[in-house]
Amino acid sequence: MRRWCLAGLTAALALATVPAGAAGPDAANGARLAKRWCAECHVVAPGQAQASADVPAFSAIAADPAKTVELLTTVLTVPEKAHTRMQNLNLSRVEIADLIAYIKTQKP
Ligand code: HEC
Repeated sequence: MRRWCLAGLTAALALATVPAGAAGPDAANGARLAKRWCAECHVVAPGQAQASADVPAFSAIAADPAKTVELLTTVLTVPEKAHTRMQNLNLSRVEIADLIAYIKTQKP
């Protein structure tokens, strides 16, 4: 009984956070966005030849257990607070979720 309730609650929460018509974060779209908007500074994928020297690679961010989805969402939603050396790219919530899903795939 209790197990059913939890499953129902989890499903309801998942539905509440996923925008209508979307099947959840899309890491492939995140990869496209990262190559376009982030690769100037970050190493976003293995084998990338150039990036800024003092910017963490996405693989390093993914490997750090302190960088939770919640924290990364805050970093990208309110860049003035945590991503200060980057201009606000005005990413949408869906783009942010896709980017984070992609960053998480870069865990070495
Ligand atoms: C102009 C250079 C630049 C661009 C473009 C850029 N970043 Fe960053 N990013 C940085 C720097 C520098 C840091 C180190 C923290 C700081 O000083 O802002 C950083 C840190 C981060 C962090 C780690 C923050 C933390 O709390 O550890 C994440 C996640 C991140 N960037 C994601 C992205 C994503 C996603 C994009 C593309 C949409 C992007 N960045 C584009 C420069 C950039």
